[in-house]
Amino acid sequence: MKVLITGGAGYIGSHTTVELLEAGHEVVVVDNLCNGSEVALRRVEDITGKTVDFVCADIRDREAMDAVLAHHDIDAVIHFAGLKAVGQSVSQPLTYYENNVNGTLVLCQAMEAAGVRRIVFSSSATVYGSEAPVPYVETTPRGTTSNPYGTSKAMVEKVLEDLVEADERWSVALLRYFNPIGAHPSGKIGEDPQGIPNNLMPFIAQVAVGRRDELTIFGGDYATVDGTCERDYLHVVDLAVGHLKALKAVSERGVSVYNLGTGQGVSVLQMVNSFTRVTDVAVPYRVGARRAGDLPAFWADAAKAEKELGWVAGKSLDDMMADTWRWQSGNPEGYGG
Ligand SMILES: NC(=O)c1ccc[n+]([C@@H]2O[C@H](COP(=O)([O-])OP(=O)(O)OC[C@H]3O[C@@H](n4cnc5c(N)ncnc54)[C@H](O)[C@@H]3O)[C@@H](O)[C@H]2O)c1
Repeated sequence: MKVLITGGAGYIGSHTTVELLEAGHEVVVVDNLCNGSEVALRRVEDITGKTVDFVCADIRDREAMDAVLAHHDIDAVIHFAGLKAVGQSVSQPLTYYENNVNGTLVLCQAMEAAGVRRIVFSSSATVYGSEAPVPYVETTPRGTTSNPYGTSKAMVEKVLEDLVEADERWSVALLRYFNPIGAHPSGKIGEDPQGIPNNLMPFIAQVAVGRRDELTIFGGDYATVDGTCERDYLHVVDLAVGHLKALKAVSERGVSVYNLGTGQGVSVLQMVNSFTRVTDVAVPYRVGARRAGDLPAFWADAAKAEKELGWVAGKSLDDMMADTWRWQSGNPEGYGG
């Protein structure tokens, strides 16, 4: 297949590009590089020995999207492009809705005009909202999202469902990611957040490599295994393979929804201890106040993806730690180093 990957120069997009190229697909990446790097794509070429067709463009630029779709005979789109910082979305809601929701509308309008109607969308476990029972299962309706980022994901899911409702030629896969971490085992590509990392794993890695003094754990008094929050961490390469499998789902018409997670919760302290055990590098930390909006614990029921797509998150927590460290220690300053 020839696949257009929006946001392919970012963290999950670059890993997915590797898996698609290695599986023999052709890939065109569109990215405006607001949070991605062209270096990542060159490294993807190093890893795979294949060429990545890259177009530096914004998905909100209709003319640019029309041109990409006119020049390439695209079979399906995997849509990663979007902004993802939860805290920033609270202070800049218009920016988030404009980029994530309007960006998807422009992309879909261009796809419709070009007759390309297969899309795999990067959604998130956050769409289950705060009320959903754990583990989250796809049959639970979307809940009350607690920030504009999460709401933008829920809105896009609804937009894509409505598209299928209106025109049965559309095929949509909504992939609800849990917490992707880790890096490609080559150590050549990984997560390279700009500024202070919002997520736990890159924070741990940056403390370990000496870029930050210590980790602050947000809350040690939750009703969890050790008082710290529990999340479902999955290896980014497993997640990337999930997209490869989801291409199968979009060869059939309609909407399909899949949780992509391991099905297991791991606490913040378990993460820190596991990192130190695997890498032999200490991570100084202190336990601070809870962070507003954090849920105590959630993880996936990932049975549907296994049953229907034959996908399981097979890599272990030790793999996630070792691969994160290989990437971070080999690239202390990320792609800019
Ligand atoms: N990383 C996570 O924990 C996580 C969890 C759930 C869902 N997601 C979603 O998965 C997707 C990919 O996440 P990621 O972690 O790889 O993020 P990322 O920021 O590394 O990648 C997103 C890419 O999209 C590009 N981009 C953003 N807006 C664009 C636009 N308007 N036009 C063109 N390119 C644009 C950025 O430059 C970046 O390269 C996002 O939609 C994110 O919301 C991520």
